[in-house]
Amino acid sequence: MDTDAAGCLGEAVSKDQLRFITCGSVDEGKSTLIGRLLHDSKMIYEDQLRALARDSAKHGTTGEDIDFALLVDGLEAEREQRITIDVAYRFFTTPRRSFMVGDTPGHEQYTRNMATGASNAQLAIILIDARKGILVQTKRHSFICSLLGIRHVLLAVNKIDLVDYRKDVFDGIVRDYVAFASALGFKSIVPFPISARYGDNIIYRSGNTDWYHGQSLLDCLETIDIQSETTDLPFRFPVQWVNRPNLDFRGYAGTIASGSIAVGDEIIVAASGRSSRVKRIVTYDGDLAAAEAGDAVTIMLENEIDVSRGDVLAGPTQRPTVADQFAAHLIWMDEEPMVLGRSYAFRIGTQSIASGNVTRIKYKIDVNTGEPPLAATTLGLNEFGFCHVATTLPVSFDPYHVNRRTGSFIVIDRYTNRTVGAGMIDFPLRRASNVAWQPLTIGKQERAGLKQQKPCIIWFTGLSGAGKSTIANIVDQKLFAMSHHTMLLDGDNLRHGLNGDLGFTDADRIENIRRAGEVAKLMLDSGLMVICSFISPYMTERDLVRKLVGKREFVEVFVDTPIDECVRRDPKGLYSRAKSGKIENFTGIDAPFEAPRAPEVHLKTLGQPPEQLADQVLDALAAREIISLT
Ligand code: ADX
Repeated sequence: MDTDAAGCLGEAVSKDQLRFITCGSVDEGKSTLIGRLLHDSKMIYEDQLRALARDSAKHGTTGEDIDFALLVDGLEAEREQRITIDVAYRFFTTPRRSFMVGDTPGHEQYTRNMATGASNAQLAIILIDARKGILVQTKRHSFICSLLGIRHVLLAVNKIDLVDYRKDVFDGIVRDYVAFASALGFKSIVPFPISARYGDNIIYRSGNTDWYHGQSLLDCLETIDIQSETTDLPFRFPVQWVNRPNLDFRGYAGTIASGSIAVGDEIIVAASGRSSRVKRIVTYDGDLAAAEAGDAVTIMLENEIDVSRGDVLAGPTQRPTVADQFAAHLIWMDEEPMVLGRSYAFRIGTQSIASGNVTRIKYKIDVNTGEPPLAATTLGLNEFGFCHVATTLPVSFDPYHVNRRTGSFIVIDRYTNRTVGAGMIDFPLRRASNVAWQPLTIGKQERAGLKQQKPCIIWFTGLSGAGKSTIANIVDQKLFAMSHHTMLLDGDNLRHGLNGDLGFTDADRIENIRRAGEVAKLMLDSGLMVICSFISPYMTERDLVRKLVGKREFVEVFVDTPIDECVRRDPKGLYSRAKSGKIENFTGIDAPFEAPRAPEVHLKTLGQPPEQLADQVLDALAAREIISLT
């Protein structure tokens, strides 16, 4: 595996290229599929084809036919063992798009290789053998893809010829997969009935599956929209080097990680907060007026401010986080296990941090199930953990689920210089100094026991006017009527007291939710069922609260009302004031709302009476055995 920094998480980007990986084992036909794609899209040269026909006769598993897997499993050793052992990248181009495909090994002992492949990919093809359905490895691959930030899955149900092209077999597998993957946060899962060996539905739709009306696999690869996902993000430019050939020219060279920039735009340096404007955008082929994610450029600024290699340039709003402690998912890639507290070097984008350490492993995750088991004091090769990391210098980053390029890092052994781990940042942590935890004799269990209930946080999120407070209030009344001890925290109410000093800038909203979350946790610890109703527009802060408490104690309720309907209702007259410019940063108008990807309860409110929506929440609580409705 490539363990150079450049080969690890979040590197290698070409703008118009679709980067994908194939996940599955040789048994599921993975290499055959890639071979078929390369072959049928006429990407193989004649001489290679002749060599292939010759090799197939020698090594092949397909009798007289050409064994496409041999195209991909290039190494002699692999052919002998009939497994794929590394991330082999192939490049091919069709008239509509160019592709980079990573053939990642599927076995558990190659988890680190797969994680590397997945971190560079925008999409994963997950292969399933139609005869076998979903296997443990299917779950492992899907979980790793999800953790490494892949948002699009093409579910290739292969060997459909061996189940007589049956629709019911295909439908059953798709149903099972969608049910399993619902918690993994994929944006799209597109299923295909294919035969990699015979080419059904790979380049063209197959006559053998006349019940299938979707695209062919290649059609989908050629048309799926991926680029807008990085260009729509806020501007991030990690400075790779300072180009100063003479006294008249000082430019910052690098590749735009996300967003776009134009001459005249204001920028800030994330770590120092110093600002300037873009004077020129220089490239090898001349100056540009504007540039976007994936472009390699040299940016000149209007005035000389202190910028060096590793700094991140960003827009003046929606800045990266700057912190010296953060929580992150970490995969360990070295034979020698990780040591808590040991000093390692870190690389985050172009930032090199000479020293930092993992201060805590919150928990280890079983890659086969995605379930976190309890405690761990170390991470071994191929193991995933959720950890706290402290660095000696502050770093600039975004949460990985928001921006993979600026949210990933690698861990380097300071003595051997090997890459030993790779991480995905979740959120910043604050440094607490000289304070320790005081043990309490009476804990949450005892307090909840006295109240004869299971404490929980029921967190309502949604646009202003979506109906959060109304539904939360009914849920509160119903729980109260069932003799539960509850408390309702409402955004508007808290902003009269505890959060009275906060407005609606990004930073203030983040602090608003942090405080509300801490208060909710204290109430949870006192055994209460805490109902919270906040717009809470950012995924990161909602997740922060989620991670403050136990896994089954946080129930996120997405009150999903379309913005047009909220504007129509406008219960407080705020939307009309926001639209006429009298209120700034109004959620849904000129401030964002990040909808939850996998809420515990998703209330689609249109046409539903609040009473009924409240019942849906109670049903979900009952299904989780938090309350009993009988
Ligand atoms: S949050 O986004 O910071 O979580 P919170 O739920 O506490 O918001 O408060 C939202 C309430 O504040 C809204 O229901 C609305 O009544 C009021 N409000 C005032 N200004 C704004 C604004 N700019 N954006 C959203 N809500 C606002």
